[in-house]
Amino acid sequence: GPVVGIVPAAGRGVRLGEQLPKAFVELDGRTMLDRSVEAMLDSGVVDRVVVVAPPELASTPPARLVGPSRVGRVVVVAGGAERADSVRAGLAAATGARFVLVHDAARALTPPGLFVRVVAALRDGSDAVIPVLPVADTIKSVDADGTVTGTPDRASLRAVQTPQGFDVDLLARANRDAADATDDAGLVERLGERVSTVAGDPLAFKITTPLDLVLARALLAAVDR
Ligand code: C5P
Repeated sequence: GPVVGIVPAAGRGVRLGEQLPKAFVELDGRTMLDRSVEAMLDSGVVDRVVVVAPPELASTPPARLVGPSRVGRVVVVAGGAERADSVRAGLAAATGARFVLVHDAARALTPPGLFVRVVAALRDGSDAVIPVLPVADTIKSVDADGTVTGTPDRASLRAVQTPQGFDVDLLARANRDAADATDDAGLVERLGERVSTVAGDPLAFKITTPLDLVLARALLAAVDR
């Protein structure tokens, strides 16, 4: 069945010391949103992409986001007040989907193989799939004063990336009553449903800080794409 990408990019959060919301920040002449949408469509495993934009940008023609060969496979819809509302708006526009991939625009250098791995796991029967990486740093929990309260065993911890893949009905059910969620898989866990993992990719890092932006621009210069 069809696979539809959902890119929640309706947040107003201005980051990276730039003027625009993160998804609209340019990397080497193209916005992170363009790059992410195009990477999904060019992976060969995603049929269509729903971009969830801030309401004032929801009339952006897809032709401003992607090249002519991909325009017919992109729709732009208006997001809501919270991220979960924006994902809900994306789901409403993902008509006919069997699976959906929720993907951060800020992971603009995600390689095609990661989309392929997530979709393969869905087609193999997983209803919820997330890409993960081992954590390099030891992680502590702390209380409100910053005093350490524990040290979880690092071997059992993973850092989570996107695309996060779901059976469309499962994500719709998990998202339905969600007040807010920064992590869609967490909503599925709350239902008591199984979430499986595939190997993530370091290049799928979230471009969030000025340091990330320097790294992303250096990577693009190195591969000259
Ligand atoms: O602000 P934060 O980084 O948690 O947002 C995560 C993602 O969710 C961003 O891509 C942002 O654009 C998106 N978002 C959204 N609708 C909102 C809030 C955030 O699509 N109302």
